Amino acid sequence: MVVAIDGPSGSGKSSVSRGVASALGLAYLDTGAMYRAATWWCLHRGVPLSDVDAVAGQVRTLPLVMGVDPQHPTVHVDGIDVGEAIRTTEISAAVSAVATNLQVRAELGRLQRAEIESARVRGRGIVAEGRDITTVVAPDADVRVLLTASEEARLARRARDVHGSDDAAAVEATRDQVLRRDADDSTVVQFHVAADGVVTVDSSHLDFDQTVQAVLDVVES
Ligand code: CDP
Repeated sequence: MVVAIDGPSGSGKSSVSRGVASALGLAYLDTGAMYRAATWWCLHRGVPLSDVDAVAGQVRTLPLVMGVDPQHPTVHVDGIDVGEAIRTTEISAAVSAVATNLQVRAELGRLQRAEIESARVRGRGIVAEGRDITTVVAPDADVRVLLTASEEARLARRARDVHGSDDAAAVEATRDQVLRRDADDSTVVQFHVAADGVVTVDSSHLDFDQTVQAVLDVVES
């Protein structure tokens, strides 16, 4: 079984996708982590992100290994564990420049399809999450879900993740970055409205367990 889950920043898609994968005994692929790893690698190698051909060249030879255990997902680049390094505000601010590079999207899309195919061949199945999984990477997935949440709920969630609080100051500190990244990403991928055949799950008023259950209900329907 292949489950594709897309959604904007702060929709909870990473934690919910891991919860769904664990509940169903499936592998888990965080495609956002692949864009983040590609960004980390280019910065590490001193490649200017505005040089689209140089960035694409680096990504074509990206020595990336994704660990797909939902309980313990890992990301290694050139043997280096970059699990924490790819979550910094520096990478979050830079990642859209890499993700809007169409040559990069083609290359990472190819790697993502290979991961999905390899899980399918091993008979294990996979939950793959990102921005364009239901539409571009795996439009033929068995289950396709768009996980949405109101802007207010998304900002509060991201503020809790990054600042450990959802008070007004923390939300304001998050607002600019989250909304700008969503706006930049939206220039090349459409993840705010469900495509044909994609089921929308709105998590604005659901807690984590309820959201996982709502997605499991879609899988079982
Ligand atoms: O931090 P957040 O959960 O919002 O994002 P993420 O899933 O870690 O993805 C980081 C970035 O990767 C996004 O802002 C997009 O620029 C890019 N991305 C993409 O373009 N396509 C995907 N399928 C997944 C992520």
